[in-house]
Amino acid sequence: MRSPRSVESADVRGKRVLVRADLNVPLEGREVADDTRIRAALPTLRWLLEHGAKEVVVCSHLGRPKTDEDWERLSIAPVADRLLELLPNSRIRLLENTRFNPGETKNDNGFACELAEGMDIFVNDAFGSVHRAHSSTEAVARLLPSYAGLLLLAELEHLGRLLGEVEHPFVLVAGGAKVDDKLAVLEHLGGRADRVLIGGKMAEQVRAHNPLPFSVELPVDVVAASGFAEDAEARVADVTAVPEGWLGLDIGPESARAFSAIVREAKTIFWNGPMGVFEWGRFAAGTRAVAEAVAEADAYSVVGGGDSVRAIQELGLADRVSWVSTGGGASLELLEGRDLPGVAAIPEA
Ligand code: 3PG
Ligand code: MG
Repeated sequence: MRSPRSVESADVRGKRVLVRADLNVPLEGREVADDTRIRAALPTLRWLLEHGAKEVVVCSHLGRPKTDEDWERLSIAPVADRLLELLPNSRIRLLENTRFNPGETKNDNGFACELAEGMDIFVNDAFGSVHRAHSSTEAVARLLPSYAGLLLLAELEHLGRLLGEVEHPFVLVAGGAKVDDKLAVLEHLGGRADRVLIGGKMAEQVRAHNPLPFSVELPVDVVAASGFAEDAEARVADVTAVPEGWLGLDIGPESARAFSAIVREAKTIFWNGPMGVFEWGRFAAGTRAVAEAVAEADAYSVVGGGDSVRAIQELGLADRVSWVSTGGGASLELLEGRDLPGVAAIPEA
């Protein structure tokens, strides 16, 4: 895989540095609800300060503003507050949400010129956004001497390992609801994996018309619920015996045992997507069992994609896996083997 040149090879002393970070974090009103991505951006910012950058200007998108109300709701101010709380330094400032400029998502050169104005160097550390060809990720990288930040490099290295020689057994675990996004990854990686385990909503689709050219393990039982509600009537059922109109909201105990046993023996693991509606305690057991098995395995283990990352963090198991990716769509596109425009725009190492 292509490796972009590292910020560590740049001479930043006395320079004004524009950093693209992915600070697209969940908000609750005017508060940052989860600051994982802000923390993940800190090592590069610290590196720049420690190496004498004169000024560090950070930019990021936040959400997908469309309506007038979104302009209020999606101001980056709460993110800026949190960033400066974590790294108080008068040489850092954060620009307003890049998507407030209509040129951003069009990869408009005019907006890129505005961003580059007065800057000496560009550092892209926004792994979660490198699959987007936008002004702040792509066009601007062609206007300034550009480098990859430490988080971006670490993500490319950790996820990239799954595309190279891996230790076997290589087990792929997929779940969640965004089925279409993930089929391409399964197709690309699945043929190289020894076992492919599929749970969550994805399992239903694959069972209905398996479009995959390799064999997969599907749940044999589910926790079936009378409707999509936290307090719905629920019981364990064989997949062939789910009552008409009921929904499988988690994999069942037998499937959870079988999946965990396979995961525990793995030497390489990629996990994307929960096994059920784990936000609701009654439907969390399957996801918990898989998360525990991933943590227990003596394996190179990577967790990617928003919901599985949240699950592993909420279970307090994040420090027992090899790598937790900050990228959702970006990690999937990388593992599909697609070119990432934000990476391609940075000169090679
Ligand atoms: C993400 O959260 O997946 C990234 O920040 C990219 O956001 P986007 O899908 O709105 O481009
Ligand atoms: Mg996304």
